[in-house]
Amino acid sequence: MISADGITSTDMDRCINDFSAQSRTVGALASQSQIQIAMEFSSPELPALQLVLLLALIPLLCLRYLRQDPKHQPRAGGLKAYPLLGTLPHFLKNQHRFLEWTSGVMKRDPAHTVSVKALGLTGVAITANPANVEHIVKTNFANYPKGELAVSMLEDFLGHGIFNSDADQWLWQRKAASYEFGNRSLRNLIVDAVRFEVVERLLPLLERAARDGRTPDLQDVLERFAFDSICRVAFGEDPGCLAEESMASPAQSAEFMRAFNDAQSAIMARFMSPVKSLWRLKRLLGMEPERRMREALGTIHGYADRIVRDRRERDDAVAGNDDFLSRFAAGGEHSDESLRDVVTNFLLAGRDTTSSALTWFFWLVSAHPDVEDRIVREIRAVRDSRQESTGATFSFDELREMHYLHAAITESMRLYPPVAMDTHGCKQDDILPDGTFVGKGWLITYSAYAMARMEDIWGKDCEEFKPERWLGEDGTFRPESPFKYPVFHAGPRMCLGKEMAYIQMKSVIACVFERFSFRFAGGERWPGLVLSLTLRMEGGLPMQVNRRSQTINATAICSVRYYHN
Ligand code: HEM
Repeated sequence: MISADGITSTDMDRCINDFSAQSRTVGALASQSQIQIAMEFSSPELPALQLVLLLALIPLLCLRYLRQDPKHQPRAGGLKAYPLLGTLPHFLKNQHRFLEWTSGVMKRDPAHTVSVKALGLTGVAITANPANVEHIVKTNFANYPKGELAVSMLEDFLGHGIFNSDADQWLWQRKAASYEFGNRSLRNLIVDAVRFEVVERLLPLLERAARDGRTPDLQDVLERFAFDSICRVAFGEDPGCLAEESMASPAQSAEFMRAFNDAQSAIMARFMSPVKSLWRLKRLLGMEPERRMREALGTIHGYADRIVRDRRERDDAVAGNDDFLSRFAAGGEHSDESLRDVVTNFLLAGRDTTSSALTWFFWLVSAHPDVEDRIVREIRAVRDSRQESTGATFSFDELREMHYLHAAITESMRLYPPVAMDTHGCKQDDILPDGTFVGKGWLITYSAYAMARMEDIWGKDCEEFKPERWLGEDGTFRPESPFKYPVFHAGPRMCLGKEMAYIQMKSVIACVFERFSFRFAGGERWPGLVLSLTLRMEGGLPMQVNRRSQTINATAICSVRYYHN
């Protein structure tokens, strides 16, 4: 049988089975937080006792559910809410296309928010409403930390690094990192690192691909590029992932890349599970994806530990190293473990965000020759206007003159934000500006991906790729409110690497587009979305690489709508 919401009775049975299986881990405690704790510590050796406790608990939980304040009802977003389960069955049914499905639901809801709260499970609210975003990340910042639950799910991967800490633990790292990011020498370090990687590795790789008629996976190439660059800037290391030899015999670098992707997928599975502590049981029993996570963590931590060890030894011998890690390590007050957290957190920040942004950018532009034409004209105009401009790369000032390119990158990230969804915890019961209730201990997520697709935020053409929306009449870049465009987050925890990311991305695109053009070689299909901590492209980005001729022919403006169903 299929209900009005497309839920079959088999789906319902599965959900109810899921739910009752999960509920068996619940101890005899009535409050939600106590239930959470009971879930954490329940063990498979105690099934009989748990069953008895559960039977005793069910009437209590039902009573609690029935006496719920109507103002505290979850926001169903137009979905059918089932007794005790609420809207959970819809979420479970659509987990495999979570981004696209939640965007559709929030688009239909007048406030662009939906929440799910099944009896005994952690509540989750998801919003695409700029007023709510402002409230969460700025106005009521103190009530929406990362929170214990989210921190516990990320802890084995990111430790207590800047991305995974709150209060004082976050504040000292924020202060230290802000100081470093404000330092002018960092900008030079970035420009130098990008220049090396572009000239020595990226351009030769594309030259070989064009010559041999190969179609490299640009997503993989860009991840390697970003990884080499961030290691150079942040740790003074060169893993050489994009070097010709590594590409030819990829054993070690490929292992690290796979480990990083596996770890992100496992983290995502933890967040997506309706029972937020189920992963602990899976880890205990060696079930997937936790089994693979364990292996991935071994690889990642092994690598990070080696960097820290080398750095300690090198810094003992050579004073005045310029990179980020050396500066953190210089004071001598940080343990090896906290330096390892610095390494993993910066690898995540620096590798996966810019590579995701560039992957979607090159794909979008390959379908918009008119945009590509304007970008190339701008690059050539900047090159021609400067007598001293030589070599393969561009200076910081030259990149700054490229307003159209800046707008095209910004527009591409609007439609495909590298951090598509961002989750925080809720400390105390609260009402969001749109009237949605968020309970203590719930998770609250804003979806930058969904926000791009709301007509009342971006206009009727919101689903089209239009860099012009970011330009003023004089052709200069015009920024938007970060609450409407939270691609770099906003408020006190706003991204610290935004400027660094733009320098890197503009530099790569300008150098590459001056010499090459790409055509998507993945057929007619649209690439699928892989929702990880960052937004990846399913199956990679195979591109045909062509050397660019001096003349550029713009074809008709494509007006493609970017809405995955
Ligand atoms: C296109 C590129 C990038 C995008 C879209 C981006 C986006 C974001 C977002 C959404 C956050 C908030 C995450 C959260 O809530 O935990 C964030 C935080 C942060 N980003 Fe970026 N980022 C980018 C590049 C970078 C780069 C290259 C670096 C430097 C290595 C960097 C460093 C950071 C740091 C240190 C934070 C933590 C801020 C805090 O919690 O106080 N980001 N970024």
